[in-house]
Amino acid sequence: MKVLLIGSGGREHALAWKLAKSDQVSELFCAPGNAGIAELAAIVNIASDDVIGLIGVVQSLEIDFVIVGPEAPLALGLVDLLQDLGVKVFGPTQAAAQLESSKAFTKELCDRYDIPTAGYAVFTEADEAIAYVHENTPPFVIKADGLAAGKGVVIAQSKFEAEDELTEFFSGKFGEASKKVVVEEFMTGQEASFFAISDGKTAIPLIAAQDHKRAYDGDKGPNTGGMGAYSPAPVFGQAEMELVMEKIIQPTVYGMKKDGNPFVGVLFAGLMMTDDGPKLIEYNARFGDPECQVLMRRLSTDVMDIFIAAEAGKLSKLEAPAWFEETVVNVVLAAQGYPGEYEKGSEIQGIETANEMEGVKIFHAGTKSDDGKVLSNGGRVLNVTASGDSVKEAIDRAYEAIDEAIDWPEGFCRRDIAHHALS
Ligand code: AMP
Ligand code: GLY
Repeated sequence: MKVLLIGSGGREHALAWKLAKSDQVSELFCAPGNAGIAELAAIVNIASDDVIGLIGVVQSLEIDFVIVGPEAPLALGLVDLLQDLGVKVFGPTQAAAQLESSKAFTKELCDRYDIPTAGYAVFTEADEAIAYVHENTPPFVIKADGLAAGKGVVIAQSKFEAEDELTEFFSGKFGEASKKVVVEEFMTGQEASFFAISDGKTAIPLIAAQDHKRAYDGDKGPNTGGMGAYSPAPVFGQAEMELVMEKIIQPTVYGMKKDGNPFVGVLFAGLMMTDDGPKLIEYNARFGDPECQVLMRRLSTDVMDIFIAAEAGKLSKLEAPAWFEETVVNVVLAAQGYPGEYEKGSEIQGIETANEMEGVKIFHAGTKSDDGKVLSNGGRVLNVTASGDSVKEAIDRAYEAIDEAIDWPEGFCRRDIAHHALS
């Protein structure tokens, strides 16, 4: 099959790395890709949110199967357009992708199908939202309804802080995304990211991973897209997985189908492991990045078999995916200044040396190649993944590759990735 993968992050490099090994994939293309993906796939120079450009490429290259990595093209309806053209695609339609693109949509689904989540109220008017926080007890979690690149969530410790935030949200702090606002009850517990695949009727579990959202050690600093990940996640064992499939994933797939929006693709559940059991924080309608990288390194099954079965509505006939027992750790190298302002264009050396180290595999994110050199070209730039028989071994291997092999003075990383899993 001629396959087109859409995206340019570490997630897509990891997917490309698995797809390149698949017997089902005869030719692999990626739009727009990065310097690492260029070693595995033919690069198509079209942005992942240029839906019209992508449709043109799918037609001119006669692509058989499209895999969508990031959320933006899903929210823009790329999948619907491809389906209209009769092209096979792995990913949810625009209506189904509302699980990620509208937090109010997801909360209302949770209400209708008894899916455990934080209590909430939805507002489109600032004064009503402000009256609500004055009648209730803080802390409050205030969320922009729409996509805000992971930044549209604020935890307000007092009523007055909540009032200030709500005023800003409704004055367009996140543009269109915060014209509607969800105010939620604050939940406590450990967080975990769990991934499942749905074909519209049936869902199968993948595995869980833990992410590190803050920029600096000790979970300090601003929120980012993710500074590292590891799997397996000790807070999430077999019992938790079964519970989450039964109480959260299956009712979601059932509800989406019943409501006329069958969901085909990755259900990425952000979970809070509370004293009352796991509760849904939010859904994403795609793989997480960097979580996808540790998932792909642990997956021993051909990932294309999973995508083909999901697209065809035949997941119930698929043999359960198999996983390597090892722990895999991912440490993100980001440009200094990220997630704020940063420079592009500095040279990164030592990637090949790092790739030769035991258990180590480098996935590129924001990189480009220039005359045989690899240059930084984004905020999150490189991902060092390492496997090990223990968490400690995986951590040690990842940091050894960073300290001994990678030479990029303009970058930084967290030094405490996966340390929670050691204790
Ligand atoms: P979200 O974008 O909805 O995943 O929210 C981003 C982060 O905010 C989550 O990873 C949690 O750390 C935190 N968060 C979101 N909702 C809640 C909640 N109801 N209670 C406590 N923390 C939350
Ligand atoms: N790492 C979190 C995300 O991909 O949204």
